[in-house]
Amino acid sequence: MSVLRSQVEGWGGYLPERVLSNEDLARMVDTSDSWIVERTGVRQRHIAAPGEYTSHLAIHAAEAALATAGASADEIDLIVLATSTPDNTFPATATKVQAGLGVTHGAAFDVQAVCTGFVYALAIADNFIKAGQFKCALVIGAETFSRILDWTDRSTCVLFGDGAGALLLRAANTSGGNDARGVLSTHLHSDGRQHDLLFVDGGPSSTQTVGHLRMSGRDVFRRAVGLLAEAVEEALAANGLSASDIDWLAPHQANKRILDATARKVGVPEHKVVCTVDRHANTSAASIPLALAEAAGDGRIQPGHLVVLEGMGGGFTWGSAVIRW
Ligand code: ACO
Repeated sequence: MSVLRSQVEGWGGYLPERVLSNEDLARMVDTSDSWIVERTGVRQRHIAAPGEYTSHLAIHAAEAALATAGASADEIDLIVLATSTPDNTFPATATKVQAGLGVTHGAAFDVQAVCTGFVYALAIADNFIKAGQFKCALVIGAETFSRILDWTDRSTCVLFGDGAGALLLRAANTSGGNDARGVLSTHLHSDGRQHDLLFVDGGPSSTQTVGHLRMSGRDVFRRAVGLLAEAVEEALAANGLSASDIDWLAPHQANKRILDATARKVGVPEHKVVCTVDRHANTSAASIPLALAEAAGDGRIQPGHLVVLEGMGGGFTWGSAVIRW
């Protein structure tokens, strides 16, 4: 029996040119390179230039994904863009990406699940493809978190950066086993009771302002490892797989300590964890596709590898995806 699956054909990432180092930050707020590295693993982050918007970053990443796939923009019939930092309140930034790529058919919309946004976007695109409604999707995570940071708050401004990453998914008939290429599963969760631990204190309906990111870092940290480890275990069980089957764990890049503790809890050795947080910081919805683009681009992730994605963010939201690359 043939089973329709979403296969990864292309990947791409984009980081704005300007690099902001920990030393630069130490000149802006009362912090130090050693504090930031020890608590987070972050050494630098990229910051979008004035006039450089989320859509611009997303278009660069999408073009790179089209190039690695050897696909043309006309083949795209679905664009799902995960972002919490859209260009405008509406319309969806995805429609600006669609226009920027010269695509004039199909559907384009945004998804907002903060740092879990890419996992949510992938799940949506995968379900549309499996249902037969779309055939070729760009799934993008793109953020300009620098625009919603309070640059006087040292407890948050050191953690985040800007960037974008994209995957190109195409429908393919497969045998359906867990060794057949494509997205094997996605699992999504949320718990709105945790809203106040990580949120932006503005919005069109509440304050009519954009607002700034606010976070109770210690509480987020405490919950993150447990939720992420459970998400990976749920994903493996659903596919009849174990931790030793994982070739690459591609986590949301929140913080090196969260990455390490989660990998340890699920039993994945450090050399199988894709880590970019040292150079990119936390780029929210962009962090997973940026990590995938880097590891696939340099040849670590190979066709047939089992790649597990996991993320957690404001809401709380959290989830996982398992891909036979
Ligand atoms: N530089 C120097 N000192 C700082 C800084 C800074 N940038 N930020 C906070 N401090 C100080 C605090 O004021 C505090 O000082 P005090 O003891 O005199 O009051 C001290 O450092 C310890 O503060 P904590 O918040 O307890 O530090 P902690 O070890 O928890 O580390 C951190 C803070 C890095 C934010 C950590 O809690 C964390 O990583 N949390 C997870 C948050 C996260 O990654 N969120 C991302 C979004 S959600 C997600 O992506 C999963």
